[in-house]
Amino acid sequence: MKKILALILSLAMLTAMAVSLAACSDAEEEQVQVGIVLPTKDEPRWLQDEASFKDALDKAGFTSEVLFSQGKSDVELSNVEALIEKGVKVLVISPQDAVAAGAAVNKAKAAGITVVSYDRLITGTDAVDYYVTFDSFAVGVAQGNYLIEAYKDKTGVPLYIYSGAVTDNNAFIFFAGAWSVLNKAVADGQFVVENCPAIADYTGKALDAEKDHETLATILGTITTNWDPAVAKTLAESNLVAANADAKGDVAILAPNDPTARAIADAFTADSAITSYVVTGQDAEMASLKYIQEGKQSMTVWKDTSVLCPVTCDLVSAVLNGETPKTTTTYNNQVKDVPSAECSVTVVTKDKLAELISAGSFDQSKIDAAK
Ligand code: BGC
Repeated sequence: MKKILALILSLAMLTAMAVSLAACSDAEEEQVQVGIVLPTKDEPRWLQDEASFKDALDKAGFTSEVLFSQGKSDVELSNVEALIEKGVKVLVISPQDAVAAGAAVNKAKAAGITVVSYDRLITGTDAVDYYVTFDSFAVGVAQGNYLIEAYKDKTGVPLYIYSGAVTDNNAFIFFAGAWSVLNKAVADGQFVVENCPAIADYTGKALDAEKDHETLATILGTITTNWDPAVAKTLAESNLVAANADAKGDVAILAPNDPTARAIADAFTADSAITSYVVTGQDAEMASLKYIQEGKQSMTVWKDTSVLCPVTCDLVSAVLNGETPKTTTTYNNQVKDVPSAECSVTVVTKDKLAELISAGSFDQSKIDAAK
């Protein structure tokens, strides 16, 4: 009997040892230094970031994991919780919703993790340590200036304006950038805004993305695409139904990014009273480069993620080495001035695109294959 008991006991001990060894090696395998959370897989923009991150982080020799929030703040929160569980030292996060993401990064911060807001700023919390971004104001300025230049010396040109999601801090900055130049062109009579009565009081007046946040939220609320091409198309169609004949003909369209630009362009193409349009974009998605070559989109603003990700990586590297990362500016997130690293953007038109293809920056076969 004693022998049997001893045997059972030693079997139990062996099992316990095996279980704890397995747990230990799981923990080792799971050791992730840098966690990256991106808004959605459904837009090529964020897949570019994923690919550039994998490349840059592999080169830097960090272990990392990229998770997508699929447009949902609750998925984003569980992604962050999973990364905290895996012991990440740095969290790089592009929020789905600037305010809602506060809850997730507060948790990360409480767990001793350094938080880097990536491309989109998380607002209303002091838990954001750094911000890495493209110059979003310059994106808007480039879009606005393109329209102004395209209709140089013309007056009374119908202008249709659209914005990104009001849950995205960038949408405010893009619009403020565009309006910083368009407001004067409207005051000078070059353009007539056709689809946004809420902006009338700001003819000849610039709006500040931080100081005029509430005013901008009201204005953007009337022209938002929510970053969704389907919403953009429906909104453009209803604007066109409401517009009378003198609001048609040759028109200018401020579209916030590439997927919405293509949707809005398609809606304008379908209206026989639109003789021609000039439409802006952003992101240099392959499908939009194709539209540019076909003359269906006028420009895009290329934000090269193979530049932004290595900049982020350098910052992460400094943090992991216990150094203070180099930053170039600050962005206020309504609670603090967040030390930020900012990257520049490139305007892409049909001619510029031909140059960039020759230089090897874009691949014609990928543009041809785009849907
Ligand atoms: C990004 C854009 C992108 C948009 C929609 C913005 O925050 O800066 O590049 O097109 O979100 O995902």
